[in-house]
Amino acid sequence: MSESLMLGLAGMVTAIAIAMVVVFPAARRAALLVARFAGSLLRQAWWWLRFRFTWKGVAREAGLSKRRTKRVKRLGVGEESIEKWRDPRLKRVKTSAHSVTLKVKTRRGQALAALEGFAPELAATYSADAYRVYPAKRRAGSTVMFELVMRDLIKIPAVAGMPEPRMQTESVLLGRRQSGKPFRLQVEQRHTLVVGASGAGKGSFLWGMVGSLAPAIAVDAVQAYGIDLKGGMELTMGAPLFTKIAVQGEQAVEMLREFVAIADQRTEQLRGYSRNHKPGPGDPLYLLVIDELASLTAYADPEIRKEAERLLKRLLSIGRAVGVVVVAFVQDPRKEVIDMRGLFTQTIALRLRSAMETNMVLGDGMAPFAPAHRILKAAQGTAWIIDEDGSTDRVRADYWSDDLIRRVASLYPADPAAAPGAIAPEPPALGGAA
Ligand SMILES: Nc1ncnc2c1ncn2[C@@H]1O[C@H](COP(=O)(O)OP(=O)(O)OP(=O)(O)O)[C@@H](O)[C@H]1O
Ligand SMILES: [Mg+2]
Repeated sequence: MSESLMLGLAGMVTAIAIAMVVVFPAARRAALLVARFAGSLLRQAWWWLRFRFTWKGVAREAGLSKRRTKRVKRLGVGEESIEKWRDPRLKRVKTSAHSVTLKVKTRRGQALAALEGFAPELAATYSADAYRVYPAKRRAGSTVMFELVMRDLIKIPAVAGMPEPRMQTESVLLGRRQSGKPFRLQVEQRHTLVVGASGAGKGSFLWGMVGSLAPAIAVDAVQAYGIDLKGGMELTMGAPLFTKIAVQGEQAVEMLREFVAIADQRTEQLRGYSRNHKPGPGDPLYLLVIDELASLTAYADPEIRKEAERLLKRLLSIGRAVGVVVVAFVQDPRKEVIDMRGLFTQTIALRLRSAMETNMVLGDGMAPFAPAHRILKAAQGTAWIIDEDGSTDRVRADYWSDDLIRRVASLYPADPAAAPGAIAPEPPALGGAA
């Protein structure tokens, strides 16, 4: 075939392809998909090369590597000194459409903590939106994984939908992890503390938990009680989901007393039979939701504050295994506000005001690994959590609109007759313990 004929054919094929893309929307969509896929592959290849080729330089500049000077004898030259670097070894670079994960082994004589502490510098050097550090599956004593988020998948908020209609009590779907995977929170066997500055989006966690438990609430596999001393502003939105809501200090103390009694009674019943309570219809998980814990433990009258603190501490120490759990929300993590921080078994840190607060909430020295104080104001519902294996992750809860809360509450109301010896509150369920 002559060269001109081949050129003519290629031109014709290109012209037909362009015409198809212009005329047919389906072809346009397909072309767009192919272009996006190719773009993603190119980007990932660029990331891979960049990390592979710059790793050593970055490690050396950050002081992670060690330089040794060696004196060697050369024939005819005499003694000469040569420089040798020991670097932490970049064992693997794995890319995905939005992130890069590095597997790095410590160099000889290096502590794992020194390598882990390098995460913030690494993220800044490569302009990552976020990062997380977690232990490698093998050789976790000397190898660490750095996940750098190059394109933030949870930047755009997501809106919650109706909860799955099946009864679930063990864990609930709240939103997304920074990897884009679903974020589920354990409910059974956990006391949860959620801390975040005003407007950080604690409401999304509150309604994500209570709303997702709604199908279980409707069949009495969960009974939710609420304490909302900010005038009931938050909880009354979904009042039918709650067996009772306390809006005054005395009512809150009464409710805590009732919870301690339930936990004591359960402990008696379960002793010798089972170490962990398994909820089901008619034998519920008791969930106590406290919005703004500080209004009970810091700002209430001294007698109420003292008694509430005593009861809550007792509840936190005896309730977990017997299916009586607490989830508390608070703006301020200071000791005067949450003296019993250590009794909560899982903690979630939304936007906080300082690295000191992050350390207070997630544990000493956690600020570089779970920088909740760096969450932007506009990223409401975003939080740092600590997983079972001790690694940290960034998550974003889906947003629960007032309308969705009301719809879920009217579809799955709690059975008021199920409250143990209680007089059911009249809607809107204010008035607290009977
Ligand atoms: N998951 C979310 N995604 C996007 N926007 C959200 C999300 N959660 C909350 N918001 C927005 O942030 C605002 C404040 O949220 P929210 O009332 O839950 O804050 P908060 O932490 O409970 O504050 P406060 O302590 O003052 O009660 C909401 O009105 C909403 O506009
Ligand atoms: Mg709130």
